Amino acid sequence: MGRHSYLEITLLLLVCLSIPICQSLNNGLALTPPMGWLSWQRFRCNTDCVNDPENCISEQLIKRQSDCLVSEGYRDHGYEYVTIDDCWSATERDKDGKLQPDPDRFPNGIKKLSDYVHSKGLKFGIYGDFGSKTCAGYPGSEYHMKLDAQTFADWEVDLLKFDGCNSDIKDAPKGYPAMTKYLNMTGRPILYSCEWPFYNWQHGIKSNFTAIRNTCNMWRNHWDIQDSWQSVTGVIQYFVKNDKQFRSFAGPGGWNDPDMLVIGNYGLSYDEERAQMAMWAILASPLIMSLDACNVRPRSKSILQNKNVIAVNQDKLGIQGSLKLVQESVYKLQIWTRPITPHGSYAIVILNLRKGGGPSAVNFTLTDLDIYNSDGYNLTETFDGKYLGIYKSNATFKCKVNPSGVYMITAVPVTYVDNKLRFVPRNESISSEKRQNDRI
Ligand SMILES: *[C@@H]1O[C@H](CO)[C@@H](O)[C@H](O)[C@H]1NC(C)=O
Ligand SMILES: *[C@@H]1O[C@H](CO)[C@@H](O)[C@H](O)[C@H]1NC(C)=O
Ligand SMILES: *[C@@H]1O[C@H](CO)[C@@H](O)[C@H](O)[C@H]1NC(C)=O
Ligand SMILES: *[C@@H]1O[C@H](CO)[C@@H](O)[C@H](O)[C@H]1NC(C)=O
Ligand SMILES: *[C@@H]1O[C@H](CO)[C@@H](O)[C@H](O)[C@H]1NC(C)=O
Repeated sequence: MGRHSYLEITLLLLVCLSIPICQSLNNGLALTPPMGWLSWQRFRCNTDCVNDPENCISEQLIKRQSDCLVSEGYRDHGYEYVTIDDCWSATERDKDGKLQPDPDRFPNGIKKLSDYVHSKGLKFGIYGDFGSKTCAGYPGSEYHMKLDAQTFADWEVDLLKFDGCNSDIKDAPKGYPAMTKYLNMTGRPILYSCEWPFYNWQHGIKSNFTAIRNTCNMWRNHWDIQDSWQSVTGVIQYFVKNDKQFRSFAGPGGWNDPDMLVIGNYGLSYDEERAQMAMWAILASPLIMSLDACNVRPRSKSILQNKNVIAVNQDKLGIQGSLKLVQESVYKLQIWTRPITPHGSYAIVILNLRKGGGPSAVNFTLTDLDIYNSDGYNLTETFDGKYLGIYKSNATFKCKVNPSGVYMITAVPVTYVDNKLRFVPRNESISSEKRQNDRI
């Protein structure tokens, strides 16, 4: 037991029992899933500022996106991290061995850009790679991690996305934690987004999620997401298949990352955009958009800025939802649940993976989903906030779900007090008779 007293161990055990996961990267960040904007999916490695000045990776792009994240209301809905992905750097380090930005595309340097982003009330993120080169072939951090961490801190970076291209997978268990240590040594809290489990999976190596959670604030599990429904559902199915391996490791301080929201681009229909938003909410996923924030269709913007769905995503309990019921015999229909606050409540998503036809008629009881409370639940449709009614756990709930769409419900437990239904937190809920007796 070393230096720890019996009392200390007991206290530690009590703390660990009262929250789902007791250990995470100790930088005080990502207590709820991070929200923001990232350049990759939409802007890729476009470095052609001569022919495509509007869309090339440059300080102009980052400034314009920051402006629109504010003027279009995204920041005020919680999207705060503005992160440049690969292709920001010059092809060589400077004479002191430090990373430096491409001089033509970032003529004022990264610190000035970071200041600009901060002046907008946003946070600033950057990209690196623990191998010899980044995925697009720019200088990697191999043998330079300590210096690079300090350079990022000097630039007042708030988030580092650390990739793993051009590295030996055997180095990952040392490489990713080394960066954690060096970031910590700078004294600046920097949210650490890593791709460790994704590269493990690519190499057929089983991930140690205890170690990953101790190392990173969010971690990519699967392929880069693409702007298509096939890609979105591919990620969801990967999460279904590997649920036991990593779901329980999500929680305040560290999150499974199914990659960016592709909403607001070209590949998803309206229903598919709602489906991605609802699923990323139920999965407690980081909400990182990759779009041109200055040009978003109103209907996509309203999905991204839906307060009720964001509230589910950002729920303080930080529990990642799971697939509860599959009605495959009828259609490819999945029902997901996620415990949320107020205590005893649930978010429910019915996801219809059927490709054609009209809306699917669905029915289920809350008991089917292991959601039980003697006096029932107050159900609200989450996107619109429409009141659906009070449902006993064994009452049949019916709804229609569009193909490649979702129906999302928030269920809050209620109980009778003086013959009136009221919300009662689950852990305090007692029968109405008992409550009556207590009052006398
Ligand atoms: C560095 O790690 C220590 C110990 O885990 C922690 O207390 C401290 O807050 C960390 N500092 C930063 C900047 O992450
Ligand atoms: C997983 O990582 C943790 C924390 O680093 C370590 O204690 C544990 O031994 C590792 N488990 C395996 C199977 O390697
Ligand atoms: C409920 O759905 C099942 C299929 O899961 C179907 O067989 C049944 O007819 C439906 N019942 C009602 C009342 O809609
Ligand atoms: C049920 O939820 C609706 C919102 O959908 C709310 O207006 C109403 O007060 C709630 N009823 C109870 C008994 O909690
Ligand atoms: C539902 O539950 C109530 C009591 O909780 C019971 O009286 C009723 O018979 C149940 N209904 C069905 C269809 O099981």
